[in-house]
Amino acid sequence: MSNIGSYDERIKNFDWSLAEKELDYKDGDTFNIGWYCSDRICEQGKANKLALIWEGLGGVEKRYTFNDVRVRSNTIGHFLKGLGIKNEDRVCLFMDKIPELYIGFLGVLKIGAVAQPLFSAFGDESLHVRLDNAQTTAIITQRKHVGKVRKILDQMPYLKHIIIVDHDGKKELKEREMVFSMDEAAPVEKFEIFPTKAESPSVLHYTSGTTGQPKGVKHVHYSLISQYLTTKWVLDLQDNDIYWCTADPGWVTGTSYGIIGPWSLGITQCVLDTGFGAEPWYKFIEKNKISMWYSAPTAIRSLMKAGDEVVTQHDLSSLRHLASVGEPLNAEAVIWSEKVFGLPFYDTYWQTETGSMMISNYPGMKVKPGSMGKTFPGITGVILDPDTFEEINEPNKPGLIGFKPDWPAMMRMYWRNEETYQKKFKNGWYMSGDRSTIDMDGYYWFVGRDDDVINTGGHLVSPFEVESALLEHEAVAESAVVAKPDDVNMEVVKAFVTLNKGYEASDELELKIMNFIRKKLSPLAMPQEIEYLDTLPKTRSGKIMRRLLHAKEWGEEIGDTSTLEDDAPRMI
Ligand code: PRX
Repeated sequence: MSNIGSYDERIKNFDWSLAEKELDYKDGDTFNIGWYCSDRICEQGKANKLALIWEGLGGVEKRYTFNDVRVRSNTIGHFLKGLGIKNEDRVCLFMDKIPELYIGFLGVLKIGAVAQPLFSAFGDESLHVRLDNAQTTAIITQRKHVGKVRKILDQMPYLKHIIIVDHDGKKELKEREMVFSMDEAAPVEKFEIFPTKAESPSVLHYTSGTTGQPKGVKHVHYSLISQYLTTKWVLDLQDNDIYWCTADPGWVTGTSYGIIGPWSLGITQCVLDTGFGAEPWYKFIEKNKISMWYSAPTAIRSLMKAGDEVVTQHDLSSLRHLASVGEPLNAEAVIWSEKVFGLPFYDTYWQTETGSMMISNYPGMKVKPGSMGKTFPGITGVILDPDTFEEINEPNKPGLIGFKPDWPAMMRMYWRNEETYQKKFKNGWYMSGDRSTIDMDGYYWFVGRDDDVINTGGHLVSPFEVESALLEHEAVAESAVVAKPDDVNMEVVKAFVTLNKGYEASDELELKIMNFIRKKLSPLAMPQEIEYLDTLPKTRSGKIMRRLLHAKEWGEEIGDTSTLEDDAPRMI
């Protein structure tokens, strides 16, 4: 029997207070995600149950029970508090998928500070803009990433502490740096958790828009209400499940459903801290008898590419439920997974801003391959006319997805960016920025994004950020960045550039520019192709028209070019 039972029954008279009751929460109580994910689970008699099975390079394994997670997060909290870090200070977690990241996240929350996880492959510039916006007080990182922090240290007077979790103490520590070993520090059995309330800030995740700097999405502890119930009903996690969420906690899926959701339910989860590979992934499932697997379309398409034979070489019979998020899950991938795993991937749709799943497929409900499913109980979704923002009540007619902003995990603001936050609301609806249709049965079918943001392998990349970074390269005079179609990643970054005098277009220069972006921003933001142009298409007012370049890449109609500079269309 699935946790949700019947979707149709659940949507009748749904109230979030159901989750509040299950979590023993009453209005006005203290509310701390760190406590819910460790201490409470121990109090429920699961102290010795495995919370985390971690595997790193070379098959190294570490295991932590819920009591280990409780004590170690106390220990980290105690250490941070000792440094003078206070509630609401921002503490950045800048690590690979190592145990310190997962457990440290709870430690930060336990002192009432705001956890700011950042993708560890970010280069110094990506790191800097995000730390700067958040005015981060401390960063917890690894030796291999500390060089990136050192590079920008002079520009960050607010960053007081650089905590290195894997330093052997042999090499010299530089300014503001210190060593902390989670497994070796004196364990703190009893810790006074900061009395955060439901509306106290908890997590700050950064997401990219078309223009401007990345936006810091502020969540509060009360988000747990949505994350707990969606984990229970959509991912269907049950007490004896072994769960694997493949997302990195540098992104929202990795925290909402890679830490908070499963641990608040007292579920054992596995983490594989090595790159992607069909063989090692299947081996990991087989070895750990993983029963519930939450992944992403790009990974699924890569597995499809690796072929069916490698699937048959492993015993994957432990799998009982699969789900996916982050980008359109094509019908072929769902059909393939049914063929090879005997189970379809259940698509889920949500965003950094929504904090929890909004539209999903549910156990027991018919899966229509290619559809994102239906709204979660308690979520009011609509399709809005892009001009009037009025509801479109016609089945199968595309429009913008809007949500009534009233669920617990909804973001509370964009950090120090009220103006952009306000723009996300029209006629009382939260505008997702995505286009979709709804069919006769209430299923949503994704159409596309309503902006220029590039979704590469489920990760959002801002064309503006890449364009700005390109301009910092000495050879580049002008730049325009768009998405280019890709079989596996759906979209990859493509840059068009014009060169400064004295620079010649060449393959060597292309590689140099690519590497420059990889180091500065991240491997995700690195253009997979750079095309040299003599001039970029611009409007008469001088604005670069990405739309034209995008249309060219996708073989689409160019549309209205009446505002173009006279000579521009010739280049397309
Ligand atoms: O465009 C949608 C796409 O990913 C965006 C959200 O990205 P992010 O904030 O990074 O969060 C990703 C993980 C929650 C959405 O606006 N997206 C997400 N899920 C789907 C999707 N597009 C199509 N189908 C989905 N299931």
